[in-house]
Formats: sequence, C-alpha cells, structure tokens
Amino acid sequence: MYLVTGATGVIGRPLLHALRSDGAHVRALTRHPAHADLPDGVHAFAPDDIEAALEGVRGLFVHPRAVGEHTGKLVALAAERDVEKVVVLSAINVEEDPAHQPSRFNGDRNREVERAVTEGPLPWIAVRPSSFAMNTLGMWRGQLGFGDTVRGPFPGFAEAVIHERDVAEVIARALLGDDALLGRRIEVTGPEALRFDEMVPILGAVIGRPLRYQEVPAELATEAMIRNGLDENFAHALVARFERESTRPATVSTEVEAILGRPALTFAEWAGDHVVDWS
Ligand SMILES: NC(=O)c1ccc[n+]([C@@H]2O[C@H](COP(=O)([O-])OP(=O)(O)OC[C@H]3O[C@@H](n4cnc5c(N)ncnc54)[C@H](OP(=O)(O)O)[C@@H]3O)[C@@H](O)[C@H]2O)c1
Repeated sequence: MYLVTGATGVIGRPLLHALRSDGAHVRALTRHPAHADLPDGVHAFAPDDIEAALEGVRGLFVHPRAVGEHTGKLVALAAERDVEKVVVLSAINVEEDPAHQPSRFNGDRNREVERAVTEGPLPWIAVRPSSFAMNTLGMWRGQLGFGDTVRGPFPGFAEAVIHERDVAEVIARALLGDDALLGRRIEVTGPEALRFDEMVPILGAVIGRPLRYQEVPAELATEAMIRNGLDENFAHALVARFERESTRPATVSTEVEAILGRPALTFAEWAGDHVVDWS
C-alpha cells in the first residue's frame, strides 16, 4: 500500500496511474475526497483522516505544494506507523539562492520540505525535476488564439523541460523499487536542452501550425504576465531567471533513462500527448 499526497495534481495523477499499472495498492490524500475523480481502485482520504490513510502503508510520497509546512509532522507520524520509506518531490533549483527560485514567490517551499524529509527518521529519496513541459501551456497557450506568433523574452533561454509522466514514473520506481535509490537526491530532466525559439516551432509541427517565437523586451513581457494574472513578484523572478540563465548551459541529466530503462520523453512527445490542451 502506497500513500500519495498532492494526488490530484500535475504529478500526482500520472503517479497514481504508474503505481496502479505496476499493481500497487494506492491511497490518495486530497482536500476534496468526494470530488477527486481518481483512477479505479484508488481510495481518497482527506488530510484530517491521515491516521487512517497511513494504516498499513509501506511507502509515502510527499508533494511539497500539498504538504508544505506539515511535512515534518507527517513523516514523524509515518515513522510511528511503520512506513518503510518516503519519496519527496523537490526541484532542480532547490540549492539555489531562494531569491532565484520563482516558485517560492508562489508559496512553494521545496527546500524546507525536502530537508524535513531528508533530516527525518525514514529512509528517503528526493526527486528533483527540471521545469515541467506543462509550464509552456501557461506561458503560450493564450497567445495561440491570436495567431501563430508566440511573443516572449530571451529566445535563447534553453532548458531540458520534462514530461510529467517521466517525473511520475521515476517517483513510482523510487517507491516500488529496491534500496538502490535510497538516500539520493536525483536530478531528472528531459533528454535535451531546447531554446524557447526552438520549442515553439517543435510545438507548431506537432499541432499543425507554423508557430514561431518573437522576442519582446523583458519589461514588456513581465508587464503582460502580470496583466494576465501572474503574481507580480513571481513574474519578475521568472523573467530574471530567463535572463540569468540565457547565457549558461542548461542541465541535462540521464537519470530518467538510467532509472526507467528507456529514454526520457522529448518535448515533441509531450506536445503529442497534449494536443487537445492546445486546441
Ligand atoms: N512546474 C515546474 O516546472 C516545477 C518543476 C520542478 C518542481 N516543481 C515543484 O513541484 C510542485 C508542483 O507540483 P504539481 O504541479 O504537481 O502541483 P499541483 O498540481 O499544483 O498541486 C498538487 C496538488 O496539491 C494540492 N494543492 C495545491 N495547492 C495547494 C495548497 N496551496 N495547499 C494545499 N494543497 C494544495 C492540490 O490537491 P487537492 O486539491 O486534491 O488537495 C493539487 O492537486 C511545486 O512544489 C513546484 O515548486 C515544479
């Protein structure tokens, strides 16, 4: 039996599928158990029901956004309940200056959550992904209603974005596998670093549109993000990151392939899995 926190989200849903398709018994923690719409055989528990949710659980997945400041307490409770290991989601930039981690301006506390797990009483594995390919939907989808040009800053900014399914399958391996991954902080990325102005035409080829990326000044791009509803500090931190990292090579790791025994999924494969989201 495995307990998944953050189970209804971007990583949680494919993780439930990965665990179920490996034959594991799975419970999901969610704030809205009645409306969670989970895969067959997955039972939903509310955070208030955590004691029952942990009963007989062998492995726990800690999602930083969902568990946050409660991580230390949750891991301690899991240890009391004889849970054998805990896998925590973190991020590839978790060691960087907090001011350089845009997600902190949205409230994520990846560093604190990862530490609460790695300094806790249970054997652990930390999974540190690069940016999710899914983020491109938030950045670019709205613009595609107006034409085939995607406007944004720093066309040369490159990163090896990762398919959420790869993150989920690595977490599933970490939960289900033997002890080989215990005590590791595993950086996982997509298979190749792509610039913004390379990703957009790839996306276009998959969805059947001649998309191109056009640079706009950083200040204009930041203002547009804020107008479209992004938190002001988050938008500034994000664009500052694009600027800072547009002159440094992106990290590309081979961990997905090493752990899953198949290559990491490409950005084109991710786009192919999400064609309907771009329509
Ligand atoms: N996006 C990236 O590029 C990237 C890259 C690396 C690491 N990360 C990290 O990965 C995490 C995000 O993962 P994700 O996309 O899977 O998250 P998500 O889908 O936004 O959230 C996962 C689940 O957590 C619950 N949740 C959301 N906000 C919450 C809140 N404020 N309080 C309590 N529960 C909340 C929701 O479940 P219920 O409604 O069912 O309770 C949600 O379905 C963050 O820590 C982020 O920093 C992100």
